Amino acid sequence: MYKIAVMVSGSGSNLQAIIDQVKGGQIRADLALVLSNREDAYGLERARQNQIPARYIKNDKEALLASLEEHKIDLIVLAGYLAILEEEVIDKYENRILNIHPSLIPKYSGKGYYGVKVHQAVLAAGEKTSGATVHYVDKGIDTGQIILQRQLSIEEGESPESLQKRVLEIEHQLLPEAINIVLKKMEEKDESHT
Ligand code: GRF
Repeated sequence: MYKIAVMVSGSGSNLQAIIDQVKGGQIRADLALVLSNREDAYGLERARQNQIPARYIKNDKEALLASLEEHKIDLIVLAGYLAILEEEVIDKYENRILNIHPSLIPKYSGKGYYGVKVHQAVLAAGEKTSGATVHYVDKGIDTGQIILQRQLSIEEGESPESLQKRVLEIEHQLLPEAINIVLKKMEEKDESHT
């Protein structure tokens, strides 16, 4: 079974969706490690509650690489990880790092677009739809190849907070689906090498 590391900086509700689907068997992989650049990230607590190794690593590339190595990680999932990943990590895990972003990339993505700011910008622009995107991580910000997107219609009188909540509900389905797509691709690639 492939080993997954999830990197968080906040509440970890996307992490929780992954934990639930690994436990339920919808994601056939080993959730082997949860990392955060924030010691107080509730996502670390969610890991501990589920007996998953949880590590606080504050912008220390060597420690990050060592922890990924120690846990034999095959796939890294950024789920609300609000720090830039070092190029060495991206090179080492090329096409094995996913990120979820709460907009329909390329719209409302890139530098400065994170958290509720994304939804404020979407509403300020008078958009009729929004949604979420899962993409591979490359050396840009939110610029890697898109794996999955799902959209929703913006309702009358929507606030940034209500939109954020509805997009998050989409994320909790989209991210596990995207992980399964990538795991399948990894299996096919590894089988073709045997
Ligand atoms: C999500 O909206 C995700 O798209 C963005 O950060 C948020 C993380 O939320 N990158 P949570 O920590 O998973 O609840």
